[in-house]
Amino acid sequence: MRVAGTPYRTIWPSDTDPATIKIIDQRHLPHRFVIEELRTVGEVCTAIREMHVRGAGLIGATAGFGMHLAALAAPKHNFSGFMHKAAEDLIQTRPTASNLAWAVNRQLAAIAQEDTLAAKQARAFGVACEIADEDADFCRRIGEHGKEIIAELSRKKNGAPVNILTHCNAGWLAFVDYGSATAPIYAAHAEGIEVHVWVDETRPWLQGAKLTAWELKEEGVPHTLIADNTGGHLMQHGMVDMVIVGTDRTTRCGDVANKIGTYLKALAAHDNRVPFYVALPSSTFDWEICDGLSEIPIEQRSGREITHIRGLNEAAEMSTIAIAPLDTATVNYGFDVTPARLITGLISERGVMKAREEDILRLYPEHKPKKV
Ligand code: MRU
Repeated sequence: MRVAGTPYRTIWPSDTDPATIKIIDQRHLPHRFVIEELRTVGEVCTAIREMHVRGAGLIGATAGFGMHLAALAAPKHNFSGFMHKAAEDLIQTRPTASNLAWAVNRQLAAIAQEDTLAAKQARAFGVACEIADEDADFCRRIGEHGKEIIAELSRKKNGAPVNILTHCNAGWLAFVDYGSATAPIYAAHAEGIEVHVWVDETRPWLQGAKLTAWELKEEGVPHTLIADNTGGHLMQHGMVDMVIVGTDRTTRCGDVANKIGTYLKALAAHDNRVPFYVALPSSTFDWEICDGLSEIPIEQRSGREITHIRGLNEAAEMSTIAIAPLDTATVNYGFDVTPARLITGLISERGVMKAREEDILRLYPEHKPKKV
C-alpha cells in the first residue's frame, strides 16, 4: 500500500542487516510517520504490548520476526530453553488475537526440524518472511472474494456509491499489506466501483479516527469519519449498504471476537437487515474452540486509554490531555464477541462462507476434528 505515493509494508527486515526489523510505529499516526527499528525479542514484546504495532495479522507477523531475533541471540548450549522462553514472552503480550500464538508455534515447529544452530537460525528467518508474505497474499485474496459482494450491491444500486461501514482498523496497518476488512474495498475502488466508507472513530484507542481514516485518505477512497454511536442511526435511514469488519479470533463455529463495540454494530445491522460481513485470513481462526463468549480471552487495558486522549495540540505538538475526572473508576475491555447468528458471511482467502461450523470446515477440511 502507498504512503504519500511510496509503497510500504507495515514490517520488513532491513536490506543491509537482517538482524534489524523495521516497523511503522503506529502510535504517532496520522500526524507523524515514524519508522522504528527492533533488534531484540524484548523490543518486539514491548512494540506489541504497547501497540507500536497492532492488529491481528501484524502482531502475528511481528511475533514471527521476534522469534527470528530470538534465534540469533539464543546460546548454543540452551537454544531450546531460550526459544521456549521467548515464545512464552511473545504470546503473553496480548491475549485475544489468535495470530500471535499461531505464528510463534509455527516458528517453534519449524525450528525443531533443523539440527544445527546455523540451520535453525536460517529457518527462523525464512519462516518469519514466509508468515509476512503469506499474510499479504491472503489479504489480497480476501480482497478478490469480497470485491464480488460489493460489485453485486453496486449493480443493485445501478452504480451509485456502495456505503460500507467499518469499525476499528482492519486495514493494511493491521496486517502486512492490504488489510482484511479494507481489502475488498481497495479492490472494488481499484476496479472503478464507487464506494464510500463510514469510519467508526473506535473509542478508546481511536484506531478508526487515527488509522483507518488516514489509510483511506492515502488510497484515495471516499470516506466519512463518524462518532461510534452514529452507525445505528445511519442504518435506520438506509445510509449503510453493508458492514465489513475484521476479527482478532474467530471460533470454528463462527463466533467472532473483534474490537469492542463490534457486537452493537452487528445488532443494529441485524435489526435493519444490513448485511454484516467479517473478513479474516485463516490464521485468525481458533480451530480448538466453538463458543466464543465463554472461550475467547478478552484483553483488558489501562483505564488511562479512556480518561486521557493523545493528539496534536494547537501548537501542532503531540500532546496528551485528561478528559475525565482524574480519580474516575474505569474498565477498558479491548474486544467483544459477536455471535455467529448475527453474521451474514465470513470472507477468507479461500472464499465466502456462512459463519457455521459445517460451512467453515467445508472450506477448511484439514481442520475437521479427528475421529478417535
Ligand atoms: O487493539 P488492536 O488495535 O490490536 O485491535 C485489533 C483491531 O484492530 C481490530 O479488532 C480489528 O478489527 C481486527 S484486527 C485485524
